[in-house]
Amino acid sequence: MLAGKRVTLIIGGGIAAYKCLDLIRQLRRAGAQVTPVLTRAATEFVTPLSVAALAGEQVYQHLFDLKDEAEMGHIQLSRQSDLLVVAPATANMMAKMAGGHADDLATTLLLATDKPILIAPAMNVRMWEHRATQRNLAQLRADGVGVIGPDSGDMACGEFGPGRMAEPAAILATIVAKLRSGPLAGKRILVTSGPTHEPIDPVRYIANRSSGAQGTALAEALRDLGAEVVFVTGPATVPPPQGVTLHQIETAREMLDAVEAALPVDAAIFAAAVADWRVENASDQKLKKTKQGAPELVFAQNPDILATVAAHPKRPTLVVGFAAETEQVIAHAQAKLARKGCDWIVANDVSPATGIMGGAENAVHLISHAGVEEWPRLPKQEVAQRLAACIAKALS
Ligand code: C5P
Repeated sequence: MLAGKRVTLIIGGGIAAYKCLDLIRQLRRAGAQVTPVLTRAATEFVTPLSVAALAGEQVYQHLFDLKDEAEMGHIQLSRQSDLLVVAPATANMMAKMAGGHADDLATTLLLATDKPILIAPAMNVRMWEHRATQRNLAQLRADGVGVIGPDSGDMACGEFGPGRMAEPAAILATIVAKLRSGPLAGKRILVTSGPTHEPIDPVRYIANRSSGAQGTALAEALRDLGAEVVFVTGPATVPPPQGVTLHQIETAREMLDAVEAALPVDAAIFAAAVADWRVENASDQKLKKTKQGAPELVFAQNPDILATVAAHPKRPTLVVGFAAETEQVIAHAQAKLARKGCDWIVANDVSPATGIMGGAENAVHLISHAGVEEWPRLPKQEVAQRLAACIAKALS
């Protein structure tokens, strides 16, 4: 994902600095090399030793550290990376950056660099909302600095509101998006995946056997071709992909909300197995066995997310649906292509005998207005790579 990329991670002095240890691990797992830089205040929260051990590299701390200058000057250090990330970016660090200060190693690197900069602010909510910080934020954005977060929630200082540093996985996804290269670089693609869960009562739900494997493989393949992927998933059994913007939902209606919020996108791929029905009279309390016998469930139809997006004012250039069928696969899929208003349908036979649903392989037909292509039975990763290549061609 980030093989061959180098990220300079400037760790600022805030309690969120502890999350940077995890961020370093995630960056390295994604293939990036990490040059860590600690401000003086950061060393109050994390030790240079733990940062160096996780990064597998020397930690840079001091501007006038002659050994550093002898090995690598601060100008060179500021430019050797593909991206500089400041996390956590404190109010003080943002103020210094906005003012163009260079009074320590971190701020000097930020001023001397010719590479893109991403900041992940983290601070007390009042400090975040302060006019001075908002003014600095606007200045930094105007200067071309990327900003991720902050998130809202409970804060270490006991208050509640915006100010929590974005989670390492979200920072990683933004870094991947900033550094992407490949035929889909600059394209934003939505992928839905997994089953939906439709509640019957607080402890029971209606679900299906979708594992999320094909949607996840597709998101990874699109990401690896350079796309910025927005991944909206129900409760899948396979872990979600790394380096994508992740929205985890449970019900079809939540999936629709997340999908509409993600628009506009260049392409939307609907690999989710969405429940057609939800229980309209779902109970607030756990249903009990009663003498009256089984409860009567009243069903209501869920929104068709694919059809909604295909007819949306913000319709993506390419809309791709999946058709999981157990009989007359091609005929049903062709009818679905017309009915749902999409451009392609990826059709597969999910009869239990095929072992496809929940399995590692898939045998699909790619159906478009131009005709039907039959693909051989392949591992889901390879189906995903082929499909991602077709998507790249269609969007080029
Ligand atoms: O109608 P059917 O469920 O067979 O259609 C399958 C395709 O439609 C899949 O791409 C699926 O993700 C999408 N779909 C949807 N919303 C629904 C039902 C299906 O997006 N409520």
